[in-house]
This record gives sequence, C-alpha cells and structure tokens, in this order.
Amino acid sequence: MCNRQAEVKGEAMIEGARVQKLRQAFANVFGGAPDLVARAPGRVNLIGEHTDYSDGFVMPMAIDRDVLVAVRRRADSQIRLHSVDFGGVSQLHLGAPVARDGMRTWSNYPRGVVHILLDAGAPLGGFDLAFTGNVPSGAGLSSSAAVEVATLQALDALFGLKLPTFEKAKLGQRAEREFVGVACGIMDQAISAAGVAGHALMLDCRSLETTLVPMGAGIAVVVTDTSVVRGLVDSKYNDRRAECEAATAHFARTRSDVIALRDVTADEVHDAADALGPVVARRARHVVTENARVLSAVAAFRAEDLGEVGRLMVASHASLRDDFEVTVPELDLLVELACAQPGVLGARMTGAGFGGCTVAIMPTDAVAGYVDSVVPAYEARTGLTPRVFTCEASDGASVVG
Ligand code: GLA
Repeated sequence: MCNRQAEVKGEAMIEGARVQKLRQAFANVFGGAPDLVARAPGRVNLIGEHTDYSDGFVMPMAIDRDVLVAVRRRADSQIRLHSVDFGGVSQLHLGAPVARDGMRTWSNYPRGVVHILLDAGAPLGGFDLAFTGNVPSGAGLSSSAAVEVATLQALDALFGLKLPTFEKAKLGQRAEREFVGVACGIMDQAISAAGVAGHALMLDCRSLETTLVPMGAGIAVVVTDTSVVRGLVDSKYNDRRAECEAATAHFARTRSDVIALRDVTADEVHDAADALGPVVARRARHVVTENARVLSAVAAFRAEDLGEVGRLMVASHASLRDDFEVTVPELDLLVELACAQPGVLGARMTGAGFGGCTVAIMPTDAVAGYVDSVVPAYEARTGLTPRVFTCEASDGASVVG
C-alpha cells in the first residue's frame, strides 16, 4: 500500500520534470520552444455539494495534481492544439466561428475557452498550444476545469489580457456550459483559479467572496476513486438543477427576494413540503441543510474541532444519499468502510456523484491503516479496485515557466 501512496505522491511532486517533458513535446510537435507554461490544479470538495448552482456555500481545496499548458504566439491567425496525453493536433482559424472537434474531443476544452474569450472581446492572435495533465479524468476531481483554467491562465499571460482571478473562473465556467455543454456551477473553475496552498476555501457562490480555511498540520485529505464509470452524469445533473429551480420558483411566487435556494430557510422548506411534492422537497432540504453544514464546518475548522468537521462530512453524505439521491452503492460502501476505520474523522462523496470519488479526513498516521483495510474490503465486496490519492492543498493557477 505504501508503495501505491508513494507512487501517487511522487507523481505529483515532479512538476519541474513534467514542465520539461511538456516543453520537449511542444518542440517535437510544433518545433522550437513555447513562450510560456501555465498550470491549473484539479480540486476536491470537502463539503458543500450541489449547492453552487443555488448560489450557496462550498468548501473545496485545490489539489497537487494539475494541467500544464505550453503556448507560443504565431504571426498568423491559426491556432494549433496538441494533447500530449491523447495525441494528435486540432486546428482552427481566428475569423471563422469556433466549432467543436468531434474526433479530438479533448480539444473542445481549449476550443471552448477560445470561443468564450472571442465572445468577450479579448484581443487574441494565433497561437500554438500543447497540454498535459495528471488529474485523473472522469473521477470527479475536475480535470476539465483544470484544462479550461490552465488555458485561460496561459492565454491571459500570452496576450496580456490581465483577467482578474474570478473572471478566469467565470470564463472557464462559460466555456464548460456554453461550448462543452455541461451546465456546471462556478465551484470547480473558481477553486482551480483561486486555490491557496495549505488551505481549503469557503466560497460564497453568490458574491464570490472567499474565506481561507487552514488545513491543520498532520491531517491527511484522502481521496478514493470508486472506479465506477459514471453514467448519464450530465442528464442527471441537469435534472437536479431543474428540481432546485422548481423549488426556487415556488418560493419566489410569494417572496420576491428569493433568487435561488440560498435565500430559503430550512423551516420554509419544511412548511412547503406538500406544495413542493416529496422529491423537490427533499432536493431543497439537501441544499438548505448543506449550506448550514458548510458554515458550521468553517467554525469547526477554526476551533480545530476536526471531529465535528468529520461528523458534518458524514451528515453531508447522508443528505446526498437520501435527499439529493446522487450517490451510488459503491460510494455509500466506501464511506461506510472509511467511517468504520480507526482514526478516520469523516468521509463523504465528493463532486457531482453518480460514481467518482469519496473524500476522507484522518491523521496522517492513519492513512496506511486506511489503505490496508479499506482497499481490500472494497475489492472483496465489489470486485472493483479503488484508487487512493492523498492530496495536499495547493495554489491555484499560475505561470510556471
Ligand atoms: C460538479 C460541477 C460543480 C458542482 C458539483 C457538485 O463538479 O461542475 O459546479 O455543482 O458537481 O457540487
């Protein structure tokens, strides 16, 4: 097990070598050196799930796994995109509408960024771009947001756009929603752009104000991938959004100040149960109780009461399982196994759900025991091999070379 941990950790730490490799790949495909290299991390959300698109509170941290993007200006209006991990070059021209590439689907993330930047009036010229990443894709750790934000960071520096941090997050979110076609909230792009090493961030998804939440020394954030292939995530995600909007519309009929579920109390949801109907009432109850749990978690972190943080995480999972119904049996099993493990303070699913990962917090000296017992127990019960990552809270996007 320790080998598995060491391997995962080692990979994340060799950033300098990865930048060198990317420069080499850039030279092989395009010839010559890039003008600059930027990075943007993936994320894990500690608590505050399915609240961002209701203007609520979230508490993600940027992780020490990222996407690196190398770029160089061109004298003409051509754009060439290369993925080191998937291979191939995808081309487009400024002046023609940006279209999706049905073959090289990896290119739709940087294409979406170009589309949104042009739409926002950014003065782009032609460029060559190559990227590589070590955020596991399809695991709910926001590899796509990392590609979008790293591309924005690189183009911001290349063309002197001077985009403020949260402008990059909003443009990345627009790329995902308007070009890639996933109606996501702001959380993933926001933390990828604004993460702070050693901290989680409590983000108010309405005002975009952030509160730094120091991650105590000696506490490990352990992500475990169920290895369940996520099916129909986008349509189920959009269903949940629609249910939250239906609940909001109900309250807005009698209260003109209600813009999102953020503006509604738990008592109001309780009293409106019949009018909302059982499903929408449960969805709304999740959102209002989850918002309260995020605020309690900030207080508990401040008081260094990690036992309470853990209890809030477990309550969050139960709410996502019973009220929001976005877990799958494998996520529930991993949380159950984690909570039975000595030293584990709390665990929950993280990300959109329907598969993907759990996140658990525990003292660093409990990690070995966790991997030694939870991994084989999960394998025995499901026939699936989970991947385990310990994550360090890292900085948001930057230019690295
Ligand atoms: C996905 C979305 C986020 C957020 C989470 C659920 O990761 O991209 O905006 O809604 O699901 O909390």
